Amino acid sequence: MTTELPASQLSVSIVDEIEQLKGTFPGYRRAHARCVCYDATFVPSGVAADLTTAAHPRGEPVRATVRFSHTDTNPHLPDAGPAVRGLAVKFHLPGGTNTDLVAVNLDRFIAATPEDFLGLLRSAEPDPATGQPDLAKVQAHVGAHPSAGPALFTAAQIPTPVSYGTTTYWAIHAFLWRAGDGAVRPVRCRWVPEAGEHVLGAGEGADWPAEHLTDELATRLARGPVEFSLKVQLAEPGDPTDDATLVWPADRTEITAGRLAVTGEVTDQEHWDSQVFDPTLLTEGIELSGDPILAARSAIYAVSYNRRSHQR
Ligand code: HEM
Repeated sequence: MTTELPASQLSVSIVDEIEQLKGTFPGYRRAHARCVCYDATFVPSGVAADLTTAAHPRGEPVRATVRFSHTDTNPHLPDAGPAVRGLAVKFHLPGGTNTDLVAVNLDRFIAATPEDFLGLLRSAEPDPATGQPDLAKVQAHVGAHPSAGPALFTAAQIPTPVSYGTTTYWAIHAFLWRAGDGAVRPVRCRWVPEAGEHVLGAGEGADWPAEHLTDELATRLARGPVEFSLKVQLAEPGDPTDDATLVWPADRTEITAGRLAVTGEVTDQEHWDSQVFDPTLLTEGIELSGDPILAARSAIYAVSYNRRSHQR
């Protein structure tokens, strides 16, 4: 069992533990280090107009900046390797504010609380005798936290997409959408690729250059925008909103809130890569659920930001 730490100390302990397990790469994010950023436009369908007062799902098209990433802390890993991938979207709203939606190609998370996440990392520390993680300790952690099992199992064997534009990305957490009449409804969002789902088969990708996914997206974008639909699942009473390891039944009502068109690489990669994409950076009409992982992420990302900005 993990001892409960004060929030700020917990954030530091988690980032320390990530660094201890995965190494430190000065100047880079302590997770999702490798990336490329793109310009995009989000065009709302209008269907969400009765569900939230937020501007981007109900108003005019808005500009967005998109960051595709590889989950590892090591920014030099080749693209062909299996890994969770990220799609972080910063919507640039009327009036000059931003709101972020941060997603990965997994439908649920590997821990229900930040304390559980730290416990999971600690269970994977190398055994001093062998230099390898002691699988029995990881298994004991999962045995004590069985809802972590499905995401860990999926992440461990996740296939590499043939393109950043051919995989679905889930924002995982429940958020609360507040409508103009004050009604509040929990929702979960995911980006579904218009190009369909395409992943590498066994033995494929061996000839890929290290930055193949970036090159591939450039080729794809030369033919036209790379698009994703924003699917929004609406909760029914009793659906869990405070546990990122759990998903809602597939038959829940779902709307298509709009379409994201990724159009080309940003001209200033360094600037956009230096920004924080924070899932708790919300806008009027979208509120945090009670998910403790969601609540913890902002402080954890701030620790990572401070370290990468100061080249630690
Ligand atoms: C306790 C749980 C988590 C920890 C410790 C953690 C840790 C981190 C850290 C340290 C960063 C780098 C932040 C920065 O320097 O800007 C990061 C980025 C990221 N995380 Fe998490 N994370 C957690 C949960 C999640 C979840 C649930 C998701 C799923 C949506 C997620 C998706 C991402 C993505 C896509 C990025 C890259 C964002 C970007 O492009 O800037 N993380 N995470």
